[in-house]
Amino acid sequence: MPPANSNNPIGVFDSGVGGLSVLRAIREQMPEEPVIYFGDQGHVPYGPRPLQQVRDFSEGITRFLLNNGAKIIVVACNAASAAALTYLRQTFPDVSFVGMEPAVKPAAEHTETGVVGVLATPATFQGALYASVVERFANGVELLQDTCVGLVQQIEKGDLSGPATRKILEDALHPMLAKNIDTVVLACTHYPFVIPLIQEIVGEKVRVIDPAPAVARQAKRLLEANRLKRPVGGRGKVQFFTSGDASFVQSLLPKLLGEDGVVKPLHWDGDKALREDRIQISD
Ligand code: DGL
Repeated sequence: MPPANSNNPIGVFDSGVGGLSVLRAIREQMPEEPVIYFGDQGHVPYGPRPLQQVRDFSEGITRFLLNNGAKIIVVACNAASAAALTYLRQTFPDVSFVGMEPAVKPAAEHTETGVVGVLATPATFQGALYASVVERFANGVELLQDTCVGLVQQIEKGDLSGPATRKILEDALHPMLAKNIDTVVLACTHYPFVIPLIQEIVGEKVRVIDPAPAVARQAKRLLEANRLKRPVGGRGKVQFFTSGDASFVQSLLPKLLGEDGVVKPLHWDGDKALREDRIQISD
């Protein structure tokens, strides 16, 4: 692999469209950066899967992104960060990774009622990362957790406000409101797409924390520190790949990301390798 330079793309991945909430923040803060994005719709949701399997998928995706020139990797998925971030840093010691960390710290610092709701998938709650964040930062604050079963799938369908999506969120948030939460931490990158609905349910006085802007800032700091930041100006191209239905994912981009793009399909070859189907053109 030739060494990466500033014109190389940022690699971003998620189990599906969730990472687009992080990509949106990257595009806002660093529009000049080219990006290569992979959504593993063929395996979504990651949340209920064993951590070992999510680690294998994350390794395969990282190899694909690096083989295609990624200069840093943003693991835009809490479940994959919980399952694989430490392993990825050990396996690819020359690569800089940015991962998702549940925003318990800012929540615990700002809560006035001392009760905070955390929405995430089971993989995130099971991982050592969440336990360590709670141990270091919860600081006596009561954390109420909910896995919002089915919410990731609703968002993958593009249903951000229909009755089934609303019911999942009401079932999670009403008991939390009854216990006086004043802050909600979104520890799944799919969930920022339903912030308007969450805010409608919890009311304007409850603060909802989307970690994406902080993650984009961290990616920017890393690029600058590694002299890999592209000079400001112009608009970098985004290449999208999915292991699922490419035309459906493509149809969601304007709604979720706010821009169009072309999504190409990839296929899994076992749990650790991705391949691109190349069309043979004969002359
Ligand atoms: N977007 C993901 C996360 O941040 C994963 C959701 C899932 O696939 O279960 O955890």
